[in-house]
Amino acid sequence: MAENKETHQSDASEGSNHPKEKKKLILNAFVINSPGHLSPGLWKHPRNNSAEYTSLKYWTDLAQLLDKANFHALFVADVLGGYDVYKGPENVGPAVPSAAQFPINDPLYLVPALAAATKNLVFGITASTTYEQPYQMARRFSTVDHLSGGRVAWNIVTSYLESAARNLGLDTQVEHDERYRIADEYMDVVYKLWEGSWRDDAVKKNRETGQYADPDLVRQIHHKGKYFNVPGPHLCEPSPQRTPFLFQAGTSKAGKAFGAKHAEAIFMSAQLPELVQPAVKIIREQAKENGRDPSNIKIIAGITIIVAETDEAANAKREELLSYGDREGALALFGGWTGIDLSTYTDDEDFRFVKDYSVRSVVDRWSSTVPGSDNLPWNKSRIAEYLILGGTGAKAIGSPKTVVDELERWVEIGGIDGFNFANVTIPGSFEDIIDFVLPELQRRGLFRTEVEKEGVTTREVFLGSPWLLEDHPGRKFRWAAGEEPPVYSSDS
Ligand SMILES: Cc1cc2nc3c(=O)[nH]c(=O)nc-3n(C[C@H](O)[C@H](O)[C@H](O)COP(=O)(O)O)c2cc1C
Repeated sequence: MAENKETHQSDASEGSNHPKEKKKLILNAFVINSPGHLSPGLWKHPRNNSAEYTSLKYWTDLAQLLDKANFHALFVADVLGGYDVYKGPENVGPAVPSAAQFPINDPLYLVPALAAATKNLVFGITASTTYEQPYQMARRFSTVDHLSGGRVAWNIVTSYLESAARNLGLDTQVEHDERYRIADEYMDVVYKLWEGSWRDDAVKKNRETGQYADPDLVRQIHHKGKYFNVPGPHLCEPSPQRTPFLFQAGTSKAGKAFGAKHAEAIFMSAQLPELVQPAVKIIREQAKENGRDPSNIKIIAGITIIVAETDEAANAKREELLSYGDREGALALFGGWTGIDLSTYTDDEDFRFVKDYSVRSVVDRWSSTVPGSDNLPWNKSRIAEYLILGGTGAKAIGSPKTVVDELERWVEIGGIDGFNFANVTIPGSFEDIIDFVLPELQRRGLFRTEVEKEGVTTREVFLGSPWLLEDHPGRKFRWAAGEEPPVYSSDS
């Protein structure tokens, strides 16, 4: 595949050089390979087919719906353990009836089938640097990048569940910042495998000479580091993107620093654009310090939308959806996200005032960011009710005008490039967004009405090039056609 000019205007920012034209948004659908994602209990709602998540047709129907509506990506979350803190320890029971991210299938297997069933939609797949060797991860993603024509992206996470650590050979989780140090070296290993183990033109497929690939153009990487020793070579020949497009989601100081270095798109979660704005600023500043053009990192905010013809109808829809919620599942999710077991408290205790400082600070920090909630008691019912529709993230509820006004506020104040729309029901939530929200966004010039270039790789969709841009730290590992291999520090 020929490399595009890196000045190529990507779909996502099409027209942004025109001062009068508004920046076109990146819009992704946020899902998980489980009956329950961020709305525990909603799997039983009549507009929710998520109980069919084990059927390929469920996924191809969803992907085709999104592709037809010109969504950019299907973004798939993943976890490697159950939410077993609530009523625990080590009790996944409360998460089971509501299917609170349990059971959960591996997301990467979906990609080739969904790519074959769609034209343009790309696929962001979550995978953790904490529990899988980089050599193996590199092979899994290269395979899928080949089979999807380069339409995969990797959402790099370092994981947060104790249950994952326990099931994957550890007594407890590796310390938080250490996980990011491991992840940083992990990236060096995968860049060497993806970018530099095979020269661009190593594969010859020459029937006359009998040479599938030229052995002089395939080399070991000899990575020797603090956490990994990987001699290579990479098991896979170069795929359309080589390094899959890199998403990342992490909110801590170490998480932001990692994202500013490696990510090409960052997925953020906050209640309000005013709260996301400082984090966006820090990431863009750190990207600059790393020698990167900050606009080469796309910032995507997560949000749950409940929309109907009028504000009243949307509020009624919220109430109806809420009636399917499962409080135990919500508290199980809260336990996994925070490590706090709320079962030891009575129903009416306001957690902002309980004795245990760790509980108080987590609830206070989070609840103080929920708009208009200052005077509410943050007891178990309140927390569960809030989490049942979309988890801890932002929500926009109302008519198309109300919702799109709010999305515009996110773009203007938050300085973001697009959204991951969470689901309450599938396909219900996305059908509503397609029917009510996209036309209003398009009327305001905020969303594409057609795809500029069909069937391109994920990186071309977001950044206009199939391969890592010049300012990305992975690019220096690239072994380009006709060139000598780059020298790695571990070569010496
Ligand atoms: C919006 C958002 C989505 C995330 N999605 C996942 C996920 O699907 N799976 C996962 O293991 N971690 C997920 N995470 C967790 C982070 O990627 C990260 O590993 C964890 O938050 C610890 O890092 P932090 O303290 O920097 O946030 C997500 C985080 C955010 C902010």
